[in-house]
Amino acid sequence: MSSPYLTLNVVELIQETADAVTIHFERPDRQPIASQPGQFLTLILPCGPGGKKERRAYSLSSTPGEAPRLAVTVKRVAGGLVSNYLLDTVRVGQQIDVMAPLGNFTLTPQSGATRSVVLVGAGSGITPLMSMLKAVLREEPRSQVLLVYSNRNEDSVIFARQLQQLEQQYAGRLQVEHVFSQPLRPATEHKHTGRLNRTTLLRILEQRQVPAAQAEYYLCGPEGMMLEAQAALELLGVPASRIRRESFVAAADSAETAAGQPNGHGDVSAAEDDGTIRTRTVTVQYEGAEYQFAVEPNQTILEAALDQDIDLPYSCQAGLCTACRGKCLSGKVHLDEREGLSDAEMKQGYVLICVGHPLTHDVVIEVD
Ligand SMILES: Cc1cc2nc3c(=O)[nH]c(=O)nc-3n(C[C@H](O)[C@H](O)[C@H](O)COP(=O)(O)OP(=O)(O)OC[C@H]3O[C@@H](n4cnc5c(N)ncnc54)[C@H](O)[C@@H]3O)c2cc1C
Ligand code: FES
Repeated sequence: MSSPYLTLNVVELIQETADAVTIHFERPDRQPIASQPGQFLTLILPCGPGGKKERRAYSLSSTPGEAPRLAVTVKRVAGGLVSNYLLDTVRVGQQIDVMAPLGNFTLTPQSGATRSVVLVGAGSGITPLMSMLKAVLREEPRSQVLLVYSNRNEDSVIFARQLQQLEQQYAGRLQVEHVFSQPLRPATEHKHTGRLNRTTLLRILEQRQVPAAQAEYYLCGPEGMMLEAQAALELLGVPASRIRRESFVAAADSAETAAGQPNGHGDVSAAEDDGTIRTRTVTVQYEGAEYQFAVEPNQTILEAALDQDIDLPYSCQAGLCTACRGKCLSGKVHLDEREGLSDAEMKQGYVLICVGHPLTHDVVIEVD
């Protein structure tokens, strides 16, 4: 398998709002880079203490149709290390190390499809939705897209002009509904004021005559917004299989949620396998190699591997992006966070090593 690492040139910067910039990349040889709408790029930047390399996931706001370009859109997070470094220092002509696009929050365009796609996002959560939206509009001439996009006010809307242009270009196929929590100007007929909650979403879906139970839903934004959207869709009888979601930040109570739900297979036979987190040796298989190393109680499996200079794939280090996903072939693993995994993946024994701790002596994980 070819290396997942690439060095890309920054070829264009677009200031989207006062605190968000789109960074366009190309490979130096201008060859296209495989990606799917909804995937993310991992940027690797030397902005940690003492020049330590830091990784962060940024969803692609571009679509595969824009190859050889890839774009990400970064919003400044107050006090955040990488987002501030990028917004303050990134320049056209700079080279940035990345890990090739990854992620399972994807929409695959099908040219013959006739479907209704509903995208619900807030703030920087627009990025993967923008990629999906452009892909469906370009590649599925019979499909409809409704974007419900929540922001503080009119000035914080990322891609405002592009969305307006797309609405005109694809009149009748793209509908955009903005929701502003603190609007600067008086509301007009298509603007919704207040938080994007279940009532607002239900009203918009009804006004826009979305065939609710048949549509496909993609959610990306703060936990509260996504829970409200899920509650609205549940009221409309939308099957869970039609709803996909992605989080950029771990929910505050995520560790508690995952606690007591060890994920794993196989028998707990040894006396020391008492379900507590303690120093244990794990085996990780990756790209044909097998590694064995000890994981201390204060470490995740990924941290222990990195301490041993074992080069495993990772990005967010928060259990959100699935870059470090692996299948637990034996033993039990405790996950501090499971946002990135669906119930079906949990049942199949998938784990995220960046938030995983071995609970038994016989843990073997095959990293994807
Ligand atoms: C799959 C995935 C895709 C992502 N895509 C994008 C994207 O397209 N655009 C984008 O701007 N960001 C995106 N992010 C978030 C991004 O990876 C970083 O987490 C974000 O830029 C903050 O990094 P930082 O180094 O500036 O902050 P850090 O120094 O890591 O964090 C500082 C503090 O801010 C909090 N924080 C982190 N992210 C956010 C946030 N988004 N909102 C509020 N608080 C936050 C952290 O919990 C922490 O307390 C994505 C994350 C994931 C997991
Ligand atoms: S590195 Fe993102 S889920 Fe583990």
